Amino acid sequence: MNTNQPTPDRIMQLVNGYWATGILGAAASHSLFTHLETGADTAGQLAAQAGISERGAQTLLDGLVSLGLVELRDGSYRNTAEAATFLVEGQPACLSNFAKLKLAHMGNLVTLPEVVRTGGPVTDATVEVADNPHWEEVVQAIAAQSVPVATVAADMLRLAEAGEISILDVGGGSGIYSATWLELNPAARSTQLDWGPINAIARRLLAERGTADRFTCIDGDFHTTDFGTAAYDIAVYSHIAHQEGPEDNIAIFTKLRDAVKPGGTLVINDYIVDDDRSGPPFPLIFASEMLLKSKQGGTWRRAAYHAWLAKAGFENVSFHPTPSPTTLVFAR
Ligand SMILES: C[S@@+](CC[C@H](N)C(=O)[O-])C[C@H]1O[C@@H](n2cnc3c(N)ncnc32)[C@H](O)[C@@H]1O
Repeated sequence: MNTNQPTPDRIMQLVNGYWATGILGAAASHSLFTHLETGADTAGQLAAQAGISERGAQTLLDGLVSLGLVELRDGSYRNTAEAATFLVEGQPACLSNFAKLKLAHMGNLVTLPEVVRTGGPVTDATVEVADNPHWEEVVQAIAAQSVPVATVAADMLRLAEAGEISILDVGGGSGIYSATWLELNPAARSTQLDWGPINAIARRLLAERGTADRFTCIDGDFHTTDFGTAAYDIAVYSHIAHQEGPEDNIAIFTKLRDAVKPGGTLVINDYIVDDDRSGPPFPLIFASEMLLKSKQGGTWRRAAYHAWLAKAGFENVSFHPTPSPTTLVFAR
Protein backbone atom coordinates (compact mmCIF):
# COMPACT_ATOMS: atom_id res chain seq x y z
CA MET A 1 0.00 0.00 0.00
CA ASN A 2 1.28 3.50 -0.88
CA THR A 3 1.36 5.39 2.44
CA ASN A 4 1.74 8.74 0.64
CA GLN A 5 -1.76 8.46 -0.84
CA PRO A 6 -4.02 11.25 0.44
CA THR A 7 -6.83 10.12 2.74
CA PRO A 8 -10.11 11.93 3.49
CA ASP A 9 -9.45 11.92 7.28
CA ARG A 10 -8.17 15.46 7.71
CA ILE A 11 -10.79 16.91 5.40
CA MET A 12 -13.51 15.08 7.38
CA GLN A 13 -12.08 16.61 10.55
CA LEU A 14 -12.14 20.08 8.99
CA VAL A 15 -15.68 19.67 7.62
CA ASN A 16 -16.81 18.73 11.13
CA GLY A 17 -14.59 21.36 12.79
CA TYR A 18 -17.63 23.32 13.99
CA TRP A 19 -18.17 20.64 16.63
CA ALA A 20 -15.01 21.85 18.39
CA THR A 21 -16.56 25.32 18.77
CA GLY A 22 -19.90 23.73 19.76
CA ILE A 23 -18.57 21.32 22.38
CA LEU A 24 -16.13 23.82 23.87
CA GLY A 25 -18.77 26.58 23.95
CA ALA A 26 -21.37 24.27 25.55
CA ALA A 27 -18.87 22.97 28.13
CA ALA A 28 -17.91 26.57 28.99
CA SER A 29 -21.61 27.57 29.20
CA HIS A 30 -22.13 24.91 31.90
CA SER A 31 -18.83 25.65 33.70
CA LEU A 32 -17.68 22.06 33.16
CA PHE A 33 -13.98 22.90 33.40
CA THR A 34 -14.57 24.69 36.70
CA HIS A 35 -16.55 21.76 38.13
CA LEU A 36 -13.84 19.31 36.99
CA GLU A 37 -11.23 21.47 38.69
CA THR A 38 -13.14 21.49 41.98
CA GLY A 39 -13.35 17.70 42.12
CA ALA A 40 -16.28 16.37 40.04
CA ASP A 41 -14.79 13.54 38.00
CA THR A 42 -17.67 11.46 36.59
CA ALA A 43 -20.56 12.30 34.28
CA GLY A 44 -22.98 11.80 37.19
CA GLN A 45 -21.14 14.22 39.49
CA LEU A 46 -20.74 16.81 36.72
CA ALA A 47 -24.43 16.53 35.83
CA ALA A 48 -25.41 17.11 39.47
CA GLN A 49 -23.07 20.07 39.95
CA ALA A 50 -23.78 21.78 36.62
CA GLY A 51 -27.54 21.13 36.71
CA ILE A 52 -27.50 19.32 33.35
CA SER A 53 -28.57 15.84 32.19
CA GLU A 54 -26.20 12.93 32.76
CA ARG A 55 -26.56 12.01 29.08
CA GLY A 56 -25.50 15.59 28.16
CA ALA A 57 -22.56 15.53 30.61
CA GLN A 58 -21.29 12.18 29.27
CA THR A 59 -21.59 13.40 25.66
CA LEU A 60 -19.67 16.61 26.41
CA LEU A 61 -16.98 14.62 28.24
CA ASP A 62 -16.59 12.30 25.23
CA GLY A 63 -16.22 15.33 22.97
CA LEU A 64 -13.74 17.03 25.32
CA VAL A 65 -11.60 13.86 25.49
CA SER A 66 -11.61 13.80 21.69
CA LEU A 67 -10.56 17.48 21.60
CA GLY A 68 -7.72 16.81 24.07
CA LEU A 69 -9.10 19.15 26.75
CA VAL A 70 -10.06 16.45 29.27
CA GLU A 71 -8.21 13.25 30.21
CA LEU A 72 -9.81 9.94 31.25
CA ARG A 73 -7.89 7.75 33.70
CA ASP A 74 -9.29 4.67 35.44
CA GLY A 75 -12.85 5.86 34.91
CA SER A 76 -12.37 9.40 36.20
CA TYR A 77 -12.12 12.60 34.19
CA ARG A 78 -9.89 15.60 34.78
CA ASN A 79 -8.84 18.78 32.96
CA THR A 80 -5.64 18.71 30.92
CA ALA A 81 -3.03 21.28 32.02
CA GLU A 82 -4.17 23.52 29.15
CA ALA A 83 -7.84 23.43 30.18
CA ALA A 84 -6.93 23.93 33.85
CA THR A 85 -4.90 27.04 32.96
CA PHE A 86 -7.18 28.70 30.40
CA LEU A 87 -10.75 27.45 30.89
CA VAL A 88 -11.37 27.44 34.66
CA GLU A 89 -13.44 30.48 35.67
CA GLY A 90 -12.14 33.17 38.00
CA GLN A 91 -8.67 33.51 36.46
CA PRO A 92 -7.78 36.68 34.50
CA ALA A 93 -6.66 34.70 31.42
CA CYS A 94 -9.77 32.44 31.35
CA LEU A 95 -11.05 31.99 27.79
CA SER A 96 -14.44 30.46 28.68
CA ASN A 97 -16.40 33.65 27.95
CA PHE A 98 -14.64 33.87 24.61
CA ALA A 99 -15.63 30.24 23.83
CA LYS A 100 -19.29 31.05 24.66
CA LEU A 101 -19.17 34.17 22.50
CA LYS A 102 -17.75 32.31 19.51
CA LEU A 103 -20.46 29.64 19.76
CA ALA A 104 -23.08 32.42 19.70
CA HIS A 105 -21.44 33.92 16.58
CA MET A 106 -21.42 30.66 14.65
CA GLY A 107 -24.78 31.23 12.94
CA ASN A 108 -23.30 34.20 11.00
CA LEU A 109 -20.95 31.83 9.20
CA VAL A 110 -23.68 30.62 6.86
CA THR A 111 -23.47 34.03 5.14
CA LEU A 112 -19.76 33.56 4.33
CA PRO A 113 -20.21 32.30 0.73
CA GLU A 114 -22.31 35.40 -0.03
CA VAL A 115 -19.87 37.67 1.85
CA VAL A 116 -17.02 36.28 -0.26
CA ARG A 117 -19.03 36.90 -3.44
CA THR A 118 -19.85 40.52 -2.58
CA GLY A 119 -16.56 41.31 -0.82
CA GLY A 120 -18.06 42.52 2.46
CA PRO A 121 -20.67 42.05 5.20
CA VAL A 122 -24.19 41.21 4.08
CA THR A 123 -25.83 41.91 7.46
CA ASP A 124 -25.64 45.09 9.51
CA ALA A 125 -23.65 43.30 12.27
CA THR A 126 -20.46 45.11 11.28
CA VAL A 127 -17.81 46.24 13.74
CA GLU A 128 -17.89 49.88 12.63
CA VAL A 129 -21.30 50.89 13.95
CA ALA A 130 -21.16 53.36 16.85
CA ASP A 131 -22.36 52.02 20.19
CA ASN A 132 -22.67 48.54 18.67
CA PRO A 133 -23.89 46.13 21.43
CA HIS A 134 -21.49 43.59 19.83
CA TRP A 135 -18.61 45.41 21.58
CA GLU A 136 -20.05 45.05 25.07
CA GLU A 137 -19.78 41.25 24.76
CA VAL A 138 -16.54 41.24 22.81
CA VAL A 139 -14.43 43.52 24.98
CA GLN A 140 -14.98 41.52 28.15
CA ALA A 141 -14.38 38.21 26.39
CA ILE A 142 -11.27 39.52 24.63
CA ALA A 143 -9.74 40.92 27.84
CA ALA A 144 -8.47 37.45 28.77
CA GLN A 145 -6.43 37.38 25.55
CA SER A 146 -5.00 40.83 26.22
CA VAL A 147 -3.78 40.03 29.78
CA PRO A 148 -0.62 38.09 28.77
CA VAL A 149 0.17 40.56 25.96
CA ALA A 150 -0.21 43.64 28.19
CA THR A 151 2.05 41.93 30.74
CA VAL A 152 4.75 41.10 28.17
CA ALA A 153 4.62 44.63 26.70
CA ALA A 154 4.99 46.15 30.19
CA ASP A 155 8.02 43.96 30.81
CA MET A 156 9.68 44.87 27.51
CA LEU A 157 9.03 48.61 28.00
CA ARG A 158 9.94 48.46 31.72
CA LEU A 159 6.72 50.27 32.57
CA ALA A 160 6.77 49.26 36.22
CA GLU A 161 9.94 51.34 36.78
CA ALA A 162 9.02 54.17 34.41
CA GLY A 163 7.70 56.58 37.09
CA GLU A 164 5.07 59.23 36.32
CA ILE A 165 4.11 58.21 32.80
CA SER A 166 0.90 59.03 30.97
CA ILE A 167 -0.80 56.43 28.76
CA LEU A 168 -3.42 56.77 25.99
CA ASP A 169 -5.38 53.63 25.05
CA VAL A 170 -7.33 54.11 21.81
CA GLY A 171 -10.25 51.65 21.62
CA GLY A 172 -9.21 50.37 25.05
CA GLY A 173 -12.37 48.24 25.47
CA SER A 174 -12.49 46.48 28.85
CA GLY A 175 -9.66 48.74 30.11
CA ILE A 176 -7.39 45.74 30.55
CA TYR A 177 -4.19 47.53 29.45
CA SER A 178 -4.81 50.44 31.82
CA ALA A 179 -5.78 48.07 34.65
CA THR A 180 -2.66 45.94 34.16
CA TRP A 181 -0.23 48.82 33.74
CA LEU A 182 -1.61 51.10 36.50
CA GLU A 183 -1.38 48.17 38.90
CA LEU A 184 2.27 47.62 37.94
CA ASN A 185 3.19 51.32 38.14
CA PRO A 186 1.56 53.28 41.01
CA ALA A 187 2.70 56.65 39.56
CA ALA A 188 1.26 56.09 36.05
CA ARG A 189 -1.97 57.65 34.77
CA SER A 190 -4.06 56.44 31.86
CA THR A 191 -6.69 57.80 29.48
CA GLN A 192 -8.95 55.55 27.42
CA LEU A 193 -10.80 56.64 24.27
CA ASP A 194 -13.80 54.45 23.36
CA TRP A 195 -17.58 54.57 23.03
CA GLY A 196 -19.38 55.73 26.22
CA PRO A 197 -20.99 52.38 27.17
CA ILE A 198 -17.66 50.59 26.76
CA ASN A 199 -15.82 53.16 28.86
CA ALA A 200 -18.39 52.46 31.61
CA ILE A 201 -17.31 48.78 31.56
CA ALA A 202 -13.64 49.83 31.77
CA ARG A 203 -14.32 52.18 34.72
CA ARG A 204 -15.86 49.23 36.61
CA LEU A 205 -12.74 47.09 36.03
CA LEU A 206 -10.38 49.89 37.13
CA ALA A 207 -12.54 50.51 40.23
CA GLU A 208 -12.36 46.78 41.10
CA ARG A 209 -8.56 46.96 40.80
CA GLY A 210 -8.39 50.09 43.00
CA THR A 211 -6.84 52.27 40.26
CA ALA A 212 -9.89 54.29 39.08
CA ASP A 213 -8.44 57.54 40.53
CA ARG A 214 -5.64 57.45 37.91
CA PHE A 215 -7.93 56.53 35.01
CA THR A 216 -9.77 58.99 32.72
CA CYS A 217 -12.11 58.22 29.82
CA ILE A 218 -12.92 60.11 26.66
CA ASP A 219 -16.23 59.02 25.08
CA GLY A 220 -16.22 59.23 21.30
CA ASP A 221 -15.25 57.96 17.87
CA PHE A 222 -11.49 57.63 17.43
CA HIS A 223 -11.79 58.68 13.79
CA THR A 224 -13.03 62.13 14.73
CA THR A 225 -11.79 62.73 18.30
CA ASP A 226 -8.63 64.80 18.81
CA PHE A 227 -5.84 62.85 20.60
CA GLY A 228 -3.90 65.95 21.76
CA THR A 229 -0.26 66.93 21.12
CA ALA A 230 2.85 65.54 22.85
CA ALA A 231 0.68 64.53 25.78
CA TYR A 232 1.48 60.83 26.31
CA ASP A 233 4.56 58.69 26.96
CA ILE A 234 2.84 55.53 25.72
CA ALA A 235 -0.09 55.04 23.35
CA VAL A 236 -1.87 51.74 22.75
CA TYR A 237 -3.76 50.54 19.67
CA SER A 238 -4.64 46.91 20.39
CA HIS A 239 -6.91 44.72 18.28
CA ILE A 240 -8.06 47.77 16.27
CA ALA A 241 -5.88 47.97 13.12
CA HIS A 242 -7.59 44.84 11.71
CA GLN A 243 -11.02 46.49 11.68
CA GLU A 244 -9.73 49.58 9.80
CA GLY A 245 -8.67 50.01 6.17
CA PRO A 246 -5.25 51.38 5.11
CA GLU A 247 -6.34 55.06 4.86
CA ASP A 248 -7.94 55.07 8.32
CA ASN A 249 -4.96 53.31 9.91
CA ILE A 250 -2.59 55.90 8.42
CA ALA A 251 -4.83 58.75 9.63
CA ILE A 252 -5.01 57.29 13.16
CA PHE A 253 -1.25 56.53 13.30
CA THR A 254 -0.65 60.18 12.30
CA LYS A 255 -2.83 61.43 15.16
CA LEU A 256 -1.04 59.00 17.50
CA ARG A 257 2.40 60.28 16.36
CA ASP A 258 1.29 63.79 17.32
CA ALA A 259 -0.19 62.64 20.63
CA VAL A 260 2.95 60.79 21.77
CA LYS A 261 5.78 62.85 23.33
CA PRO A 262 9.17 62.84 21.58
CA GLY A 263 10.86 59.62 22.73
CA GLY A 264 7.49 58.03 23.57
CA THR A 265 6.25 54.70 22.20
CA LEU A 266 3.19 53.62 20.26
CA VAL A 267 2.29 50.02 21.14
CA ILE A 268 0.26 48.17 18.51
CA ASN A 269 -1.01 44.65 19.12
CA ASP A 270 -2.71 42.70 16.34
CA TYR A 271 -2.94 39.60 14.17
CA ILE A 272 -0.15 40.40 11.71
CA VAL A 273 0.68 38.26 8.68
CA ASP A 274 4.06 37.61 7.07
CA ASP A 275 4.88 39.75 4.05
CA ASP A 276 4.25 36.88 1.60
CA ARG A 277 0.97 35.94 3.39
CA SER A 278 2.22 32.39 4.07
CA GLY A 279 1.53 32.54 7.84
CA PRO A 280 1.13 32.59 10.77
CA PRO A 281 -1.96 30.31 10.76
CA PHE A 282 -4.35 32.24 13.04
CA PRO A 283 -3.90 35.71 11.49
CA LEU A 284 -4.54 34.11 8.07
CA ILE A 285 -7.85 32.66 9.33
CA PHE A 286 -8.84 35.88 11.13
CA ALA A 287 -8.91 37.68 7.76
CA SER A 288 -12.22 35.85 7.14
CA GLU A 289 -13.70 37.29 10.34
CA MET A 290 -12.89 40.79 9.12
CA LEU A 291 -14.35 40.05 5.66
CA LEU A 292 -17.54 38.89 7.41
CA LYS A 293 -17.77 41.79 9.83
CA SER A 294 -16.01 44.87 8.44
CA LYS A 295 -16.19 46.90 5.26
CA GLN A 296 -12.43 47.48 4.90
CA GLY A 297 -10.67 45.49 7.62
CA GLY A 298 -8.29 42.59 7.21
CA THR A 299 -5.15 41.10 8.69
CA TRP A 300 -2.35 43.34 7.51
CA ARG A 301 1.21 42.45 6.55
CA ARG A 302 4.30 43.64 8.45
CA ALA A 303 5.26 45.64 5.35
CA ALA A 304 1.92 47.49 5.54
CA TYR A 305 2.52 48.47 9.19
CA HIS A 306 6.03 49.60 8.29
CA ALA A 307 4.81 51.75 5.41
CA TRP A 308 1.84 53.26 7.30
CA LEU A 309 3.92 54.04 10.41
CA ALA A 310 6.65 55.66 8.30
CA LYS A 311 4.02 57.79 6.55
CA ALA A 312 2.70 58.83 9.96
CA GLY A 313 6.20 59.99 10.99
CA PHE A 314 7.47 57.07 13.10
CA GLU A 315 11.16 56.31 12.45
CA ASN A 316 11.90 53.25 14.53
CA VAL A 317 9.56 50.23 14.23
CA SER A 318 10.09 46.77 15.75
CA PHE A 319 7.98 43.57 15.81
CA HIS A 320 7.82 41.17 18.77
CA PRO A 321 6.07 37.79 19.22
CA THR A 322 3.64 37.42 22.14
CA PRO A 323 2.24 34.46 24.12
CA SER A 324 -0.88 34.71 21.86
CA PRO A 325 -1.41 34.64 18.07
CA THR A 326 -0.82 38.41 18.01
CA THR A 327 2.36 40.38 17.32
CA LEU A 328 3.41 43.48 19.25
CA VAL A 329 4.72 46.46 17.29
CA PHE A 330 6.67 49.23 19.03
CA ALA A 331 6.92 52.46 17.04
CA ARG A 332 8.95 55.52 18.07
C1 LIG B 1 -11.53 44.30 19.62
S1 LIG B 1 -11.85 45.49 20.86
C2 LIG B 1 -10.23 45.75 21.51
C3 LIG B 1 -10.21 46.16 22.96
C4 LIG B 1 -8.82 46.35 23.58
N1 LIG B 1 -8.05 47.34 22.87
C5 LIG B 1 -8.07 45.03 23.68
O1 LIG B 1 -7.13 44.80 22.91
O2 LIG B 1 -8.41 44.21 24.56
C6 LIG B 1 -12.13 46.96 19.90
C7 LIG B 1 -12.49 48.18 20.72
O3 LIG B 1 -12.50 49.34 19.89
C8 LIG B 1 -13.67 50.11 20.15
N2 LIG B 1 -14.00 50.82 18.92
C9 LIG B 1 -14.24 50.29 17.71
N3 LIG B 1 -14.47 51.25 16.80
C10 LIG B 1 -14.37 52.44 17.49
C11 LIG B 1 -14.47 53.80 17.09
N4 LIG B 1 -14.72 54.14 15.82
N5 LIG B 1 -14.28 54.76 18.04
C12 LIG B 1 -14.03 54.41 19.34
N6 LIG B 1 -13.89 53.13 19.75
C13 LIG B 1 -14.06 52.16 18.84
C14 LIG B 1 -14.70 49.08 20.56
O4 LIG B 1 -15.75 49.68 21.32
C15 LIG B 1 -13.86 48.11 21.35
O5 LIG B 1 -13.76 48.49 22.69
